[in-house]
Amino acid sequence: MAEQEIERHLMVVIGGTGDLMRRKLLPAMRRLTERGALHGKVVLLASGRRTTFDDESYREWAREALEAAGMPIDVEGSNWCDRCLHYQSVGDQQPEDFERLKRRIEELEREHELPGNRIFYMATPPGAFIDTVERLGEAGMNEGPGWTRVVIEKPFGHDLDSARELNARIHRHFREEQIYRIDHYLGKETVQNLLTFRFANMLFESVWNRDRVASVEILVAEDIGVGRRGEFYDGVGALRDVVQNHMTQLLSLTAMEIPVEFAADAIRDEKVKVLRSLAPIDPSQVVLGQYTAGKVAGEPVVSYLDEDGVAEDSTTETYVAIRTHISNWRWQGVPFVLRTGKRLPQKLTQITIHFRCPALAIFQAHAQATVHANTLIITLQPDEGFDLQFEVKQPHAPLRLQTHSLRFRYEEAFPDLPEAYETLLVDVAQGDQTLFVRADEVEHSWRIYTPLLTARPQVYPYEAGTMGPAEAERLLPPRGEACPI
Ligand SMILES: NC(=O)c1ccc[n+]([C@@H]2O[C@H](COP(=O)([O-])OP(=O)(O)OC[C@H]3O[C@@H](n4cnc5c(N)ncnc54)[C@H](OP(=O)(O)O)[C@@H]3O)[C@@H](O)[C@H]2O)c1
Repeated sequence: MAEQEIERHLMVVIGGTGDLMRRKLLPAMRRLTERGALHGKVVLLASGRRTTFDDESYREWAREALEAAGMPIDVEGSNWCDRCLHYQSVGDQQPEDFERLKRRIEELEREHELPGNRIFYMATPPGAFIDTVERLGEAGMNEGPGWTRVVIEKPFGHDLDSARELNARIHRHFREEQIYRIDHYLGKETVQNLLTFRFANMLFESVWNRDRVASVEILVAEDIGVGRRGEFYDGVGALRDVVQNHMTQLLSLTAMEIPVEFAADAIRDEKVKVLRSLAPIDPSQVVLGQYTAGKVAGEPVVSYLDEDGVAEDSTTETYVAIRTHISNWRWQGVPFVLRTGKRLPQKLTQITIHFRCPALAIFQAHAQATVHANTLIITLQPDEGFDLQFEVKQPHAPLRLQTHSLRFRYEEAFPDLPEAYETLLVDVAQGDQTLFVRADEVEHSWRIYTPLLTARPQVYPYEAGTMGPAEAERLLPPRGEACPI
């Protein structure tokens, strides 16, 4: 993560007319230019199948996209579009389309006097990117006059075999050091801060183990349903959409050992070790669910089966709870509970560390002195921050305790937090792979969950607006209970 000078480069976005480009990548590029991080450093060539766009009409499309993202197009913004944005169609991806793309890249590099550094960002639908990667390789664009990097969006495969095959096909053309697999959760400041929080604070790292921790809970709750993604989601489900990638990243960052240095491969090595130590998931410790009609934030919502694009007899899970263990020296015997769902009461991503109870013999003579174990709650969204819950004595006799909280909110300390995509785009441009998922990491993660995809546990209904099926309660750590004296 050492800061490096960003070299001038061309970023080619294949799928540059899609939703990701419109809502995330373009606004992030514009903000980074305004802030100076990418000012004068990058020229953008968007590409898609459409042949109806040219540079001018694409720039108009981009201006509208930026305005829709709340970025007023002043003279400077408009000039940026004219100066930096270009469009080239790849039609239906024939070899000659890629020869044309290559010529356009070389032309732009001459025109903008770029040194030949290139980023190919795959913003195409998941099934389409591998063909594009192969066409780029066949057209000789896997190496250029400068460095060449390829960015791949999640999801990466749909099970272990498909992930292995994708890796093998990419590696025929690109070396692992050139590949940036995105899990945008890793771009969130609060997720990155997990490492600093643990390793820069003796206070926490010294209790981050099975001697002091009773259980760890990771929750990714969404209040939304599947929206317009019904057809896509119905073939995917919560296990693939959230657990295999985002939640597993949070798990490995929470549980990993201290890396030998704060650098990409050292950190990724430690994350992979966590995945290798994760015990095979016991199907009896998994509860899947699917939402039925209900109310979320007071508004009535339809059941999953009534969503557009969802098969009427679908058994796709919209909720997953898993209780698992990490079989290593630090975590042996500590349950890790992962829970995610759609149409839960609120949007909330939290990691909760439940500490063990203290030795309570000294309070035995005080019948009213109930003690609760300490809890550290790390909130990743919304309202990012930390809450450390601890016990204090209530004033006046008899001896009574009360739980209070030390609270830190990221936004109060740092009002100008970057968007995840801003962080990730800068990292790709700098050649820093720390926040990107390595080939072995993605395969280990699929290895853990693929058995659950084949031997499907029962899917229980849960009412929209609740915290999921009642059957999952038995997997959760006890909450609010006093320590036994
Ligand atoms: N949208 C998001 O907020 C979001 C967030 C996280 C991750 N992602 C990931 O980002 C990727 C893109 O998602 P999206 O929502 O932007 O999709 P999208 O709106 O459907 O856009 C897809 C883009 O890819 C192009 N395209 C489609 N099929 C192609 C093919 N066979 N060959 C070449 N280009 C093709 C389309 O070009 P034409 O229009 O010219 O056909 C369009 O520019 C997906 O992997 C998705 O999972 C998206």
